[in-house]
Amino acid sequence: MCGIVGYIGERECTPILIEGLRRLEYRGYDSAGIAVLESAAGESSLLTRVVRCRGKLANLEALLTEARPTGRVGMGHTRWATHGRPSDENAHPHKHGSVSVVHNGIIENYLALRAELAGRGHRFSSETDTEIVAHLIDEELKAQPQVGLREATRRALGKVQGAYAIVVLSDRTPDVLVTAKNASPLVLGLGEGENFVASDVPAILPHTKRVMFLEEGEIAELRRDGIQVIDLAGRPVRREPRLIEWSAVMAEKAGFKHFMLKEIHEQGRAVTDTLRGRVSIEQADALLDGIELDPQTLKKLTLIACGTSYHAGLVGKFLIEQIARVPVEVDLASEYRYRDPIIGPGDTLLAISQSGETADTLAAVKEAKAKGAQVLCIANVVDSSIPRACHHALYTHAGPEIGVASTKAFTTQLAALVLIAIHLGRRSGTLSSNAAAELIREFMALPQKMADIIGLAPQIQVIARRYGHARDFLFLGRGTQYPIALEGALKLKEISYIHAEGYAAGEMKHGPIALIDAEMPVVVVVPKGPGYEKVMSNLTEVKAREGKIIAVATRGDQDIGAIADEVILIPEAPAPLAPLLTVVPLQLLAYHIADFKGTDIDQPRNLAKSVTVE
Ligand code: F6R
Repeated sequence: MCGIVGYIGERECTPILIEGLRRLEYRGYDSAGIAVLESAAGESSLLTRVVRCRGKLANLEALLTEARPTGRVGMGHTRWATHGRPSDENAHPHKHGSVSVVHNGIIENYLALRAELAGRGHRFSSETDTEIVAHLIDEELKAQPQVGLREATRRALGKVQGAYAIVVLSDRTPDVLVTAKNASPLVLGLGEGENFVASDVPAILPHTKRVMFLEEGEIAELRRDGIQVIDLAGRPVRREPRLIEWSAVMAEKAGFKHFMLKEIHEQGRAVTDTLRGRVSIEQADALLDGIELDPQTLKKLTLIACGTSYHAGLVGKFLIEQIARVPVEVDLASEYRYRDPIIGPGDTLLAISQSGETADTLAAVKEAKAKGAQVLCIANVVDSSIPRACHHALYTHAGPEIGVASTKAFTTQLAALVLIAIHLGRRSGTLSSNAAAELIREFMALPQKMADIIGLAPQIQVIARRYGHARDFLFLGRGTQYPIALEGALKLKEISYIHAEGYAAGEMKHGPIALIDAEMPVVVVVPKGPGYEKVMSNLTEVKAREGKIIAVATRGDQDIGAIADEVILIPEAPAPLAPLLTVVPLQLLAYHIADFKGTDIDQPRNLAKSVTVE
């Protein structure tokens, strides 16, 4: 999510760090900073100088024109906020004692660690989880300076749970840069008399093409003349460097042809990050970052959003009503704000927005707040306008979404809504502890199943070529799959410019059936579960009119092959979780049709990523 770059060598490092960060800035960030080991005037020892600030890299560069640190060891960071709003204090690097840290990821047990450290007299200067890591490493290094920075880092990380890619430097150990990885990407670049570390290849590509990727739970010590890798147990690891053949543009997309495809692939990781630290099988519960929803006082929940986020809201209605038996109303933000909505004190509105900047959603939030309602949101961009306008925010932690067509933002919004449904269901007594524990177990298994579906891309690509010339598509689904049909149609139309409509399968005979003929592909989302038989009988009506059926169905379904022309078989999941899986083949279908047609997939015509006007 964040951008990281580190350097150790013989060259002046500030320009290398800034240039590296600039190469990562395409992802959009909210603050930036660098730490450089420099020799203080009149001193022989080196001291770390940290320069950091809120805002784009240009703000940091402006600061650096006044006082540019000089030194040959340093690291830089561009932040995508997760814990703590974007601010100067929360910008990385975080320094405590002699130790400075930059971090990408989420430290799950940071509240517990923070409390422990506070008990030992530590005081904190930011709201971040990262600062905890600087305190832990500094403690280790102070206790036993002779062990060195790598060992101090290893010992400190033994206490940390969560996802991280970190780079650490200390003015006590000026000849090394230490870096570690667990579930967040990190690449080491090997140069002549110099070495690099970065969260993403583009940051180091101008300097070297010889790289090593760290694996989970590995720590590397970078010196000018070499790199040593160990695991968390302290055992040495042998890793052969490899040559990267990517161009700079390919590297930004991590080798994927488009950001959209990269983001489709990232969904398993993104959903894991949404769940991280928020679900517990033992407690059979979901925690919502301090948001307490009480079903006894919650008469009704109003969900508002636009576009893809609105589709997430439609799925949310099913989930919350089914699991927690709390009535849910869903509305398009653009409609809601103009219909003088009936909402006031005692009511709760939940806005859903990836960007947190959508003008209609923001206006609806303000309207409900002005009328005295409690306003909450599910958002991806921390401290964007909508979370700021709300009383509480539940962040999805999907990371920056660059492709205009929303993919990983959608699945993580669905994950956040499942969390809310479990939270409410446990408190309303409608979800037993056994049922909750089972649902959470299945929830945690989803990322693997998503990866499995992404493996179906070659089959979906063949289908895309076969039907990519069609002028119109119909998408059908029932229950939770109805909004998925809407989302499949939206994805297809926005990136391929093919006209597509999503319909509730039961509504087909009330109108759209008139469109069906041998030229009309009908994409049906029909996993095993509630409504399956009903949708199957809708399909016989399509077949009778010679429509071409492309079905997304559950593996092991014996009947679907007899009626559908194309069948995409996906793993089974409990009904509330199935939308997180069924949407993935539809995203891939839209992507491959658009790719086949050669459209501008990441920036489709007439669309913008963040709709800040009405
Ligand atoms: C579709 C898409 C849009 C957004 C909509 C709301 O792929 O991206 O429909 O979902 O503009 O945006 P957010 O979620 O940022 O409020």
